[in-house]
Amino acid sequence: MELIDGKKAAAEIKQEIAAAVEKRVAEGKRRPHLAAILVGHDGGSETYVAHKIKACAECGFQSSLIRFESTPEEPLSQDELLAAVDKLNNDPDIDGFIVQLPLPRHIDENAVIEAINPEKDVDGFHPVNVGRQSLGLPCFHSATPAGIVELLARNGIATSGKRVVIVGRSNIVGKPLAAMLMQKGDRANATVTVCHSATPDLASVTRQADILVAALGRPGFVTADMVADGATVIDVGTTRVPDASRKTGFRLSGDVDFESVAPKCSFITPVPGGVGPMTICMLMKNTLLAAERAEEKK
Ligand code: GUN
Repeated sequence: MELIDGKKAAAEIKQEIAAAVEKRVAEGKRRPHLAAILVGHDGGSETYVAHKIKACAECGFQSSLIRFESTPEEPLSQDELLAAVDKLNNDPDIDGFIVQLPLPRHIDENAVIEAINPEKDVDGFHPVNVGRQSLGLPCFHSATPAGIVELLARNGIATSGKRVVIVGRSNIVGKPLAAMLMQKGDRANATVTVCHSATPDLASVTRQADILVAALGRPGFVTADMVADGATVIDVGTTRVPDASRKTGFRLSGDVDFESVAPKCSFITPVPGGVGPMTICMLMKNTLLAAERAEEKK
């Protein structure tokens, strides 16, 4: 069994991006500028956004964090949030931006995503980018699936002709990953099955996978009996579970029961240190791409 080191790959990619940025700057071009909108104080979102801002610094980007308070007593209105999105859409200094999800329940997430200019949608969540991705056209690919594809490629794990089973059909991971891996191309060309809560006899499907991706957000869901000998297992789960032995009071748990599954695998991603760091890297790659495209349009 070989551990797939997402932290190492992410560090390499950030160095590659930083080198590209310094080259741009030496040519008199602007540093890429990523903005993030964060509403409220969800613990996971605070951590993710902090990591994104830190990664911007590592890549030589400018970054801006736009925070909004929202409490049950004083909720942020959807219109206020849409106004902030509009401002970023029209700010020539911002190459790309994200609205960190989840949003408070009273805000229509889809309405906010659709308000983002697709050319600045570095999360790749806007229907224009999702549609272009599904057609195999140039677009911003959403970061987690792009990170998984990059991790597989950098570890020499071929997807062409392989059977990929994805457990989870979210708009952020399951659906876009299926679209990417089923395309024609070197880093794709797989036979993809997407499983979800209505899939009967799930284990009989997951056992057919050469590459099994767990992205359903249920800690330890994938057990050894669900995995074929020699499979590659990619764990996208990052659920906070209480852990009194940690200073924070929690630890991150993947969707795979690592102890029982790992001995059966040819490759497996750890949690943390697998897919997570790659996701942030791919966001940085998209932001660099957005800056390059903005430059071409001048
Ligand atoms: N929440 C969980 N993952 C993501 C992500 O990739 N982007 C945004 N904007 N919110 C998220």
